[in-house]
Amino acid sequence: MNLVLINIIYIVASVLFILGLKRMSSPVTARNANLMSAFGMLLAVVATLMTAGLEFRWIVVGFILGTILGIIAALRVAMTAMPQMVALLNGSGGLASFLVGWSSYHYQPTASLLTTISTFLAVFIGGVTFTGSVMAWAKLEERGVSGKPIIFPGQNVLNSLILLVLILGGIIFSLHPAQNYSLFVLIMVLSLIFGVMVVIPIGGADMPVVISLLNSYSGMAGTATGFVLLNSMLIVAGSLVGASGIILTQIMCKAMNRSLANVLFSGFGKRIVKKGTEIKGEAKPIKPEDAYLILEAARSVVFVPGYGLAVAQAQHVLRELGDFLEKNGAEVRYAIHPVAGRMPGHMNVLLAEANVPYEQLVEMDSINPLMETVDVCMVIGANDVVNPAARHDQSSPIYGMPIINADKAKTVFILKRSMATGFAGIENELFYYENTRMIFGDAKATIQTLVAEFKQAAKT
Ligand code: TAP
Repeated sequence: MNLVLINIIYIVASVLFILGLKRMSSPVTARNANLMSAFGMLLAVVATLMTAGLEFRWIVVGFILGTILGIIAALRVAMTAMPQMVALLNGSGGLASFLVGWSSYHYQPTASLLTTISTFLAVFIGGVTFTGSVMAWAKLEERGVSGKPIIFPGQNVLNSLILLVLILGGIIFSLHPAQNYSLFVLIMVLSLIFGVMVVIPIGGADMPVVISLLNSYSGMAGTATGFVLLNSMLIVAGSLVGASGIILTQIMCKAMNRSLANVLFSGFGKRIVKKGTEIKGEAKPIKPEDAYLILEAARSVVFVPGYGLAVAQAQHVLRELGDFLEKNGAEVRYAIHPVAGRMPGHMNVLLAEANVPYEQLVEMDSINPLMETVDVCMVIGANDVVNPAARHDQSSPIYGMPIINADKAKTVFILKRSMATGFAGIENELFYYENTRMIFGDAKATIQTLVAEFKQAAKT
């Protein structure tokens, strides 16, 4: 009876996960989708706790520890540090699969072939996910390791050798698990090393792709663990994470016009920059008060938000400015680049927080053909995602990445604090264009000044 009930709850939870994932595809339904999936997870956990023969003492310890750590992390993490947090969460999933695989060997060293293959996969993929994610976190935080790609001669050969030993070792272990505990230990150690090795050559703007890929791995490790434990819920949940992670990875690669192989093996930013790509010209700064006069006359305005919007927390005041412009008769749109900010959907989340109407959000592919008709394109704390070098400079590390064609607008305002580079660490020629004006300062302060000007004008 218990088993039937558990399986029914598992089916309900699976349906909630699938519906939740489906509804995450639009910002309108995403919030509700999150709640739906979280409720599905709660059901899954409760059903699993109904399994006969559980040792509750350790479960309670894990529950308390996990809850405390989860609450502290969720309260303390800044929105801009989300990728690091996601990396650590992926790593935790990988470590859990790794440990379950390891302990299951001690419980059932003479299990069926399916179980031993699954044990190998749980330990292998889980181990790679764990150390790979910790390395991704360290690179993003620059904790003890540079965020740049670490490349050395023979790296790909060495990685291929480790992978070969892992696969051969996995086959031998799966066929004769009881006699091969030392081999199993070697597989565990090599998996942990391999995780570090595959992430160190990656850096710069490629890190989000890697994190998304590791997310997918954590799902696959979960699926393997599901086969070890013969738990259908874990198999379903792991497969969903694995599949959605790989789809997101593909979307991000497409957004950067890169193949996954290129991301994993080329070393971002290691391309040689040819002489002659230095940027000539002079940037033209203007005051917000002067920018107001141009905005006031504009009939069509496009905002391009980027990472700096998140740093400045300028989303609320930006919405206020958008409202003033609309009241003034301008058409206002927000152009969203798929990798603007530091995590997928970063700009959507920020703008949703400020209740920007969804119909004003326009995807890159839809706004670009209209850019020439735009009076003012206001770039707020974005840099790489509007860098025209991506279109024509073959020596640029971001060459080929689709960008928002801000430069095509009649006037471009760039709101940032200095001439500093963005995430990719490269100069932006857009800042020197004839139609570009730089408005230096914190984005929030600048937009507040613009809003104050509109308020002042409304009074008189
Ligand atoms: P970036 O190219 O990183 O540029 C952000 C700009 O914001 C900087 O140039 C900075 O200039 C400015 N800024 C920072 N704080 C500011 C503030 N308080 N007020 C005004 N400006 C401020 O950002 P982007 O255009 O959004 O591009 C995203 C980059 O990150 C891409 O290279 C992408 O590949 C990468 N990336 C994306 C993701 C995802 S999935 N979205 C994840 C990780 C990395 P100042 O210092 O001069 O102010």
